[in-house]
Amino acid sequence: MSLLELSGINTYYGLIHILQDVNIEVGEGELVALLGGNASGKSTTLKTILGIVRPKTGTVRFAGEDVTNRKTSHRIGRGMAIVPENRRLFGPMTVLENLEMGAYLNREGKGRKEDFDRVYTLFPRVHERRSQLAGTLSGGEQQMVAMGRALMARPKLLLMDEPSMGLAPVLVERSFEIIKQVHEAGVAMLVVEQNANVSLSIADRGYVLQTGRIVLADKASALLENEGLRKAYLGR
Ligand SMILES: Nc1ncnc2c1ncn2[C@@H]1O[C@H](COP(=O)(O)OP(=O)(O)O)[C@@H](O)[C@H]1O
Ligand SMILES: [Mg+2]
Repeated sequence: MSLLELSGINTYYGLIHILQDVNIEVGEGELVALLGGNASGKSTTLKTILGIVRPKTGTVRFAGEDVTNRKTSHRIGRGMAIVPENRRLFGPMTVLENLEMGAYLNREGKGRKEDFDRVYTLFPRVHERRSQLAGTLSGGEQQMVAMGRALMARPKLLLMDEPSMGLAPVLVERSFEIIKQVHEAGVAMLVVEQNANVSLSIADRGYVLQTGRIVLADKASALLENEGLRKAYLGR
């Protein structure tokens, strides 16, 4: 059974038709890449999943429930979490306080210590830096804190908006190793990226979005070999 299912999604900003008949599925424990160039509708897809924007038609199902008409807070309470574009940490707060903000979204609030331990085990560097102001961390460290913050709420599905953005190439690879590690710890993920190569190298499946339409959907290994995709995105 799918954890997340978008069916026949059409999303508008005013009169402008952005997402056109979008169908996307993420299975339990799956890592799915959503690829596309600038302004193709990637962030709008994430906003539609989270309920920040509502589709005109189509349905969003999550964890066995039709959440299409549910508020963002309800969806987060049911187990969605996001690492937003450019990470959006609370710069003047410490790393520890940033993690606490993530835990705040975990309504039950049980097992707080275990949540910290789990995040610190995944990211020893975050533990080392826990008293540092988040705004003074390097880009790679901020990425780890942003993921840690999202994981504090023990999500079923982690949504990531362009994690490679603004990172030096060596940090992009490191960042995706970490994403893979978090996925292997059992969290399903939908990773939105322009960097097709690195995201497909760790994904199970992928979708390609072009001006609001899904133009390709396949296993990651097949997409990596796809001629059209290679020409358009992989630069080879
Ligand atoms: N709040 C908004 N109002 C009007 N148009 C928007 C808004 N947000 C995004 N758009 C437009 O929707 C299209 C898709 O944007 P977006 O989903 O952010 O693309 P991506 O994340 O793939 O770069 C773009 O043409 C963008 O200008
Ligand atoms: Mg975007």
